[in-house]
This record gives sequence, C-alpha cells and structure tokens, in this order.
Amino acid sequence: MLIKTILGIESSCDDTAAALVRSDGSVLASIVMGQNALHEGFGGVVPEIAARAHAERLDIATQAALDKAGLKLGDVDALAVTAGPGLIGGVLSGVMFAKGLAAATGKPLIAVNHLAGHALTPRLTHRLAYPYLMLLVSGGHCQFIAVSSAESFHRLGGTIDDAPGEAFDKVARLLGLGYPGGPLVEAAARSGDATRFKLPRPLADRDGCDMSFSGLKTAVRRLREKLEADQGGLYPQDIADICAGFQAAVAESLAAKTRAALQEFEHRFGNAARLAVAGGVAANETIRAAIGAVAAEAGAGLVLPPLPLCTDNAAMIAWAGHEQLARRGPDGLAFSARPRWPLDAIAAPMLGYGKKGPKA
Ligand code: KG4
Ligand code: ZN
Repeated sequence: MLIKTILGIESSCDDTAAALVRSDGSVLASIVMGQNALHEGFGGVVPEIAARAHAERLDIATQAALDKAGLKLGDVDALAVTAGPGLIGGVLSGVMFAKGLAAATGKPLIAVNHLAGHALTPRLTHRLAYPYLMLLVSGGHCQFIAVSSAESFHRLGGTIDDAPGEAFDKVARLLGLGYPGGPLVEAAARSGDATRFKLPRPLADRDGCDMSFSGLKTAVRRLREKLEADQGGLYPQDIADICAGFQAAVAESLAAKTRAALQEFEHRFGNAARLAVAGGVAANETIRAAIGAVAAEAGAGLVLPPLPLCTDNAAMIAWAGHEQLARRGPDGLAFSARPRWPLDAIAAPMLGYGKKGPKA
C-alpha cells in the first residue's frame, strides 16, 4: 500500500486543530489550540468569539503541525476538513481555510463529518475491526453509534436534550465552580458523599438507549435553591456531595443505557460488541469505571482511545478523511459547511441545540 500523508483541520467548536496523519495510522503531529481562556468568563463557548479565534489561528496551527512533523505543505497528499456539525462560524472558518489551501496547491480535499472523526478514532488508535459500537460522550454530543464501515453509521440512541458534558458544565456553573465544568465537578466529587442527595435517573424505565440529562441539571438547581433557603448558602461539603450525587447519576445512567445498547448491537449484528468510548466526558474516572463494568459483564471488549485523541482534535479528521477518501474520492470545492449533519441520515433527527452546537 502506498503510504499517504493527510493534513486534517478541525474548528467546529472551541479548539483550533491541525494534524498530519499517515495512512499507516502514524500521527506525525496533532496540534490543538484550545480557547478556554477566551470563554471561561462566559461559562460556555461564545460562538462569535470562537469563530474569530479560529480564523486567526488556523494557519498558525497548520504551520505548527507541519513544523512538528518536519514537512512542507508540498509533502502532503490530501486535505481533510471538518465540514459540520458544529458552530457554523467556526466550521466555515475551517472549510474556507481548507478550500483555500486546496485551490492553491491542487491537493485533493475531503469534507469530514466531525462525528465520523470521533466514531472512527478507535480504528486509528487500536485498528478496531468493523463492526463496533461507539459511545460518544462530550460537551456537544451523546450517542450510541454502530459503525460498520467508514461511511455506515447507525445511531442506536442518544440524548434527547443536553449532552452529559454540557450538564457537567451547567452544574459547575450552578455551583460556582468554573469552566470547563467536568474536571472541576469530578475533583469536587472526590470528597463528596454520592448518597446524601437523591438525584433522578432519567429515562431509567424506558426501553432502548436514549438518554436525558437536562432534568438532572434542573434537580441540582432546585437542590441549591433549597439549601440556600434552608441554611442561607452552600457549604463546601454540600457542593462536594451534590457533585458526587450528580456524577453518580450520570455514570449510572450512561452505564444502564450502555447495557441496552450492547444488547441491541448483539441483536443486530449477531455477536458481542466491541465497545469504544470517546469524547471529553470519557476522561471521568467514575464514568469510565461504570461503563467498563457493564462492558465486562456483557463480555464486550472495551477500547478507550488516549484522551488527546478522545477529545476534539484534527488527527481524527485526517484519519476519517483517509478512510473515506479511499471509498469515495475527493469532494471538490463545492461542498458547504453544515451546522447540522446527522451521521445517521436514516434515524430520526435528535432534538435540540446545546451551547456547543447541534447535538445531531
Ligand atoms: O470532547 P470535548 O473535549 O469537546 C466537545 O464537547 O466536543 O468534551 C468537552 C466536554 C466538556 O463539557 C467538559 O466539561 C467535559 O467534556 N469533561 C468532563 C471531564 N473532562 C472533560 N466531564 C466529566 N468529567 C471529566 N473529567
Ligand atoms: Zn467533538
């Protein structure tokens, strides 16, 4: 096989990323320029600020990736760019940048779905064979996807409202912990008692593997209001206990729905799933442990790609570009940036938009 080098570009949320990946799976460089400092004062991603920052940084990230890999643009064989779903200003910045590079160099360009990038990551990191089950849990996404080729995705279920990362971020904001909330809630939960407050287990009695997290966030708000009314404020121990209770509820809910998704996968494909988990929320130890226990109990192999490739990055876009290019060839320069772009065009669209864009 002729080994090719693909430049990946990602700018659909709040990370400006560029990466160089070879078709044998080696990641030569993966640059991720975060924007947390630009958004933390707002408690969430501000789309206009994000789009402007991407426009300013895409060329810097790309040059940094080329420098790190010791390559020149002329050494690149193809370009892959996230064309959606995501915050449209940021997606547009990346798409225009990539089209400009393709027009100037004559290199083939492929438009990649951001979710396909996440969903194909276990192929890049673990050579996972098709078909497998993917759980994507991040600030903007939450879905179970059966992946049977680089272009065949079947959504088995997903959140009907907030993504779990979004819920972590909102809970952190309610408790005055800061942004991004996930790591801060996890840290606070370490000294908390998860059993002190009873929080709901949303959709626990519903069949299938759809999930819901916005009720949990509302329950936390009520709890805070009640404590404020009863005792005039929240003590550090209250915050720790709420964080622990909330985290346990999310972990339990994800674990229960993973059990259902594994059963559905087995039913459809006739063999036990290999399960892969990606997205920023997969960094959470309690959640990892809960999902790991369910996978073990179901006899399913569990793949957890290393965190820098689990969260938003451009190596996953380059890799998905490589796999999809081999199947359908380049996309030319006429494709559009898409704010919504469900991976599985057949399944009913998911409801709602979150702070970090459409849940697709
Ligand atoms: O995948 P990601 O980097 O970006 C996208 O949303 O696409 O995920 C970021 C999300 C944030 O909402 C953040 O609060 C959450 O992942 N997160 C966590 C943890 N680390 C990051 N949530 C729970 N526990 C964590 N340790
Ligand atoms: Zn993502």
